[in-house]
Amino acid sequence: MSFTSTFTRLTLGVSLALGTLGSAQAANDDVKMGFIVKKPEQAWFINEQRAATELGEEMGFEVVRLAGEDGQQVLSAIDNLNSQGAKGFVICPPDVRLGPAIMNRANQYGMKVVTVDDRFVGSDGEPIEDVPHLGMSGYKIGQQVGEAIAAEMEARGWDPQEVAALRITNYELPTAKERTDGATDALLEWGFPEDNILDAPQQNTDTSSAFSAASPVISKNGDFEHWVIYALNEESVLGGVRASEQYGLKAEDVIGVGINGSGAAFAEFSRENPTGFHGTVAVSSTMHGRQTAEDLYTWITEGEKPPANTETSGTLMTRDNWEAVREELGL
Ligand code: GLA
Repeated sequence: MSFTSTFTRLTLGVSLALGTLGSAQAANDDVKMGFIVKKPEQAWFINEQRAATELGEEMGFEVVRLAGEDGQQVLSAIDNLNSQGAKGFVICPPDVRLGPAIMNRANQYGMKVVTVDDRFVGSDGEPIEDVPHLGMSGYKIGQQVGEAIAAEMEARGWDPQEVAALRITNYELPTAKERTDGATDALLEWGFPEDNILDAPQQNTDTSSAFSAASPVISKNGDFEHWVIYALNEESVLGGVRASEQYGLKAEDVIGVGINGSGAAFAEFSRENPTGFHGTVAVSSTMHGRQTAEDLYTWITEGEKPPANTETSGTLMTRDNWEAVREELGL
């Protein structure tokens, strides 16, 4: 700690000296941070890393974008960052229970850590409060999903007794559970029959794991003509929608509502014909990327620790308004 802060102060001293020569940016450019994500191929994370990188270009620090798809890859990424002289990293971990191991490695190097999207949990199963976090307000956003599904069932004049709800779950990940719990509660409050909620536990947070989870549930419940689909994110809802198509369900018989508002949703809304993917609650991945990078930068350069937990909110995006919402959220 004392070595790190002395080093920073020395660097700042050099920059002040250089500043008189007209290169005040010099010291800032020396600040390097990592941005590690669990699913580097997903549009949400691509945009988050891009936004952090762009902020770095504006403010004069460097962001190293890395993949951390499992524990081993995350630990190697941290070693790699250390050898490049990075002072810390933002991370969306592949498994929140890796929190203590990740912090152990980061502490060995004196690196500062901020989590984004998925919050570390300790061995007691509780969030690691000491690591600053920024993520969705999971339960509230889930409620928005449930309300959007209910409104669309009403618009289509469906009798809820004859509708199946495909709930694609991931209870290993607290933010995922909060989101699907919020959606479930909103549906039950609206009057959806609990017995018609069918669980499809997925192994991961992507489209293919959701497709595999959804397929047997849809095939076993062929009596239902109308389906609603929800999950922790739009990639997973899309997996459910693709499975419904495979079983011959038509777009007008399916209401899928996701969460994220990333390129995956834009591609779906851009298709010529509507699909069962009715909408998604969009959250600004641009803001998640920028804010966490800025918080970490301030922490590294000024020693000001970011807030323990920041919760962000969402806006319903459908085929009708997606371009406007995209613009509004800077996506
Ligand atoms: C989780 C999900 C992502 C995205 C983020 C947003 O990490 O897996 O798809 O929804 O949360 O916080």
